[in-house]
Order: sequence, then structure tokens, then C-alpha cells
Amino acid sequence: MAFTDQIDPIKDAALQALQAADSLAGLDDVRVQYLGTNGQFTGLLKQMGSLSKEERPAAGKAVNQAKIALTETLNRRREELELAEAAPKHATDFTAPGRRRPLGKKHPLSQVTEAIVRSFRKIGFAVADGPEIETEHYCFDALNTPADHPARDTQDTFFLNTNERPLLRTHTSSVQIRVMEKTPPPVRIIVPGRVYRRDTADATHNPTFHQIEGLYVDKNVTVGDLKGTVEFVFKELLGKEVKLRFRPHYFSYTEPSLEIDFSSPLVRKMGKEWLEIAGCGMVHPRVFENVGYDPEQWSGWAFGFGIERIAMIRYGINDIRLFYENDKRFLEQF
Ligand code: DAH
Repeated sequence: MAFTDQIDPIKDAALQALQAADSLAGLDDVRVQYLGTNGQFTGLLKQMGSLSKEERPAAGKAVNQAKIALTETLNRRREELELAEAAPKHATDFTAPGRRRPLGKKHPLSQVTEAIVRSFRKIGFAVADGPEIETEHYCFDALNTPADHPARDTQDTFFLNTNERPLLRTHTSSVQIRVMEKTPPPVRIIVPGRVYRRDTADATHNPTFHQIEGLYVDKNVTVGDLKGTVEFVFKELLGKEVKLRFRPHYFSYTEPSLEIDFSSPLVRKMGKEWLEIAGCGMVHPRVFENVGYDPEQWSGWAFGFGIERIAMIRYGINDIRLFYENDKRFLEQF
């Protein structure tokens, strides 16, 4: 058979096989079979060298044209199969819910704060707010804290370096004064907020953390109301097995003053029986006088507790610094 007569049959067979390939892998097999080093079409090219000078130009032209046709078909077919293999295997279900990228989550401290606020709202408390940069009046003086009290020491409090000596509030109790100055009794508020102390950060301390303050002022308010309220909220927050214990303590703005210890299976998991969780007491008559309330007519209680402490118990976290590092591996667990 003349050389040029061999070209068309191989080309046609190759074109047919390329067209029939129904996967990228199958297509590649066909490519190797015809165009690979030992392929049938490559074999034709190899024979070119043995052709006579007269035959060569026509044969070369025919082989080149065939090769162009094969390469074009191979490339087109490859694109078609790539598209087909990338497409979904099933028809699109337009009624399926859209796929969303995750929007992120609330920080665990925000989640705990919201849970606490929700509980207090159920029993009629409103949320109040106050500034983090405070004056000595609201943070200490009006709360009956004496001028030589250690909490006012520059070792413990961040004072801002100006003439008026403003400071970063060391507790949310300052907001008790701000609210009572503006509002006639009765008062029923909680105050979640950030506070600052000159502490070195370790597993249980940080120079800034969060508190929730509570204040209830009405006629004939008792320590019994205080205990019942705190117990209700903690049981909602940390489970029915919660036990509370009230111990005598000292705060300048309450008399009597108490500290609340907390016990539950969650605390036992942390290897302890009781944890200090809050300070509280009956509002001191001098505090009422400082805001213009008549202590003969009004009585009240107040408390303050740390939000981090509660979140650590709730989630079994043993290092307060984890709350501030913004490590996604930590935050995504809540
Ligand atoms: N302010 C106190 C603290 O930061 C907590 C506290 C104790 C708040 C007794 C109160 C209270 O309202 O009555 O440690």
C-alpha cells in the first residue's frame, strides 16, 4: 500500500475513537494508542524518513493535516469531558436551602452575659449602663469608700494622668450611684460592663474583666429577697443542683455585707466544693443619703459578680486569658 493511503484509515479510526471516549481517562488511553511514542499515528511519522525524495512533500503535507485534525479533536473532546466531569452528578434542586458560609458566633462572654440578662428580665430588672472612665466620686466617694481604702491605691486602680484624676472604673458599682442620682425609687436594675484593675494576667486574673451589678430599692426589701433572687438566676444559668452559701464580709456600700459561695457538680468537676462568686449586701444608709434617698423610707440590696468566673464554671474553662486571645479554635467551641 502506498504510504499516503495508510494515513486516512488510521486518522479516521483515531477520530472515531476520540469522539467515542466518554471519560478523561478513556480519552487519554486513545491519545496514547494513536499519538503516544509507540502509537499508530506516530508510527506513520516514523516511516517518513524512509520515503523517496519525490514522495516526501505530498506525504508530509497529508500527515501534517491529519495530525492537526487529530490534535484539534483531542483538545475539543478534552474540554467537553472536563466540563462534564466538573458538573454536579444530579440535576440542580432549586427548592434546596441555599448554602451559606458560616457567619461566625457570639463570644462566650457575650453568650453568658445575655443569658444572665435574660434571667433578670424575667423578674422585672432593667439594664442600665455607665461610663468606663469614671470619677473618684462615682467609683469610691459616693459608695462610702474612705479616702485611705486600699482599693483606691494607685497600685490597684488605673488613674488617668490628668488634674481631675479620672480613673478606669474598678467595679460596676459606680453605676448604682449614677442611676440613683437620676431616678427616684423604686429601682430594679442590672448593669453588665467592663471593669479594670491593676492586676498581672495569670490563669484567674486579667487587668480588664466584666461584672454584673444588681440593685434593688423599694420599701421593706429584705436579705431574703436577695437570696431568692440570686438563687433563681444561678439555677437558671448553671443548673438545678446549684447550692449557694452566704458568708459575712465587708463592703463600704453595704451593711450587712455578704459574700456568696457557689457549689454545683460543675464546680466539683473543677476539683473544688465551693467557689466565691459574688459580693452583696443591704445598701448602706450613707449611700442612700449620698444620692438623696431617705434611708428611713427606702431599703435595698445590691450585688456584683464576675462574668468570666461564671463563664469559666459554665464551660469548664481553667484559664481566663483564653477569653481575650480570640483564637478561633477556642471561640468555635461555643
Ligand atoms: N463591687 C464589688 C467588687 O467589685 C462587688 C460588690 C459587692 C457589688 C457588694 C455590690 C455589693 O453591689 O453590694 O468586688
